[in-house]
Amino acid sequence: MGRVVILGGSGFIGSHLCDRYLATGHEVVAVDNLCTGHKRNIAHLSDNKQFQFIEQDIVEPLKIDGPVDLVLNFASPASPKDFTILPIEILMVGSRGQHNALDLAREKDATILFASTSEVYGNPQVNPQPESYLGNVNPIGIRGVYDESKRFGESITMAYHRKYGLRTRIVRIFNTYGPRMQLGDGRVLPNFVSQAFRGEPITVYGDGMQTRSFQYVSDLVDGVEKLAASDCTDPVNIGNPDEITILQFAQEIIQLTNSKSEIVFKDLPPGDPLVRQPVISRAKERLGWEPKVPRLEGLKTAVDYFKMLLETSVEAQ
Ligand SMILES: NC(=O)c1ccc[n+]([C@@H]2O[C@H](COP(=O)([O-])OP(=O)(O)OC[C@H]3O[C@@H](n4cnc5c(N)ncnc54)[C@H](O)[C@@H]3O)[C@@H](O)[C@H]2O)c1
Repeated sequence: MGRVVILGGSGFIGSHLCDRYLATGHEVVAVDNLCTGHKRNIAHLSDNKQFQFIEQDIVEPLKIDGPVDLVLNFASPASPKDFTILPIEILMVGSRGQHNALDLAREKDATILFASTSEVYGNPQVNPQPESYLGNVNPIGIRGVYDESKRFGESITMAYHRKYGLRTRIVRIFNTYGPRMQLGDGRVLPNFVSQAFRGEPITVYGDGMQTRSFQYVSDLVDGVEKLAASDCTDPVNIGNPDEITILQFAQEIIQLTNSKSEIVFKDLPPGDPLVRQPVISRAKERLGWEPKVPRLEGLKTAVDYFKMLLETSVEAQ
């Protein structure tokens, strides 16, 4: 059992990682500047003596007292909405933020795991995407701030591994959903669910034939835990290969919410990836990992969570 620092620990995924590492007997220090995360995600941990929260921007140097065994860097805005609202912050957190995280890991002789993304593949010209695919990213496009920030983050992580022998891990996360996503954060699932519950038209961009592969958050947390404990320095895709068109996804949400909403079509934003599906053979072979939660089961849990948020007006966005 050791001490784990979780950067972005009050975000959607970060807070689930706090729960997992506490449940497996670790001490957890969550660091977050709350720019897209929320304290309510970790409110249930406030009396836990094994848990500490530090409010800090990781773009500033990180000072953590005491020993650290593992640093997980999950700090970064991740919603397409933020690509225009927080573009500089996104570039800084993937570059300076990850640089600071690496320095912390080096100072403490800790393992570090960087949360990268399937967006490093950009608008892919091969489908599905193996880790060996080098991607098709437009550096000056609106999405470039996120894609290039993560590509830089991976690059500096490998540089620290090669130059200093630091134990580094890189996870390329494909679309992940579940409780604690924010209803108003602009990602496809919260968008569809809040429109469906309000009886508003469901907005599908393009013709809806673009695809995504959605994984439930507990599957991702399993994969991250296994990767962090492995000796795998190469990037690993963690995602659910169950690919679906966005139109079909919208129809599933309408059914799950018993909504009368209609589907309306709007122009596809520039650079939006047309296909997205992970190859997960590396995760299977090297981590013994594969996703377990079927989409409809995971979606039901997520929809119930969003319903609770709307009914209790916790987040009337
Ligand atoms: N959810 C997904 O589908 C997905 C897919 C690929 C990659 N990721 C990556 O996983 C990580 C977590 O994403 P999420 O979906 O939980 O998003 P989130 O917005 O819920 O969580 C990110 C957290 O990082 C914090 N943060 C942002 N900038 C910071 C900074 N400069 N200093 C300190 N804290 C900062 C935010 O306040 C938030 O709590 C991100 O790195 C994201 O890029 C997520």
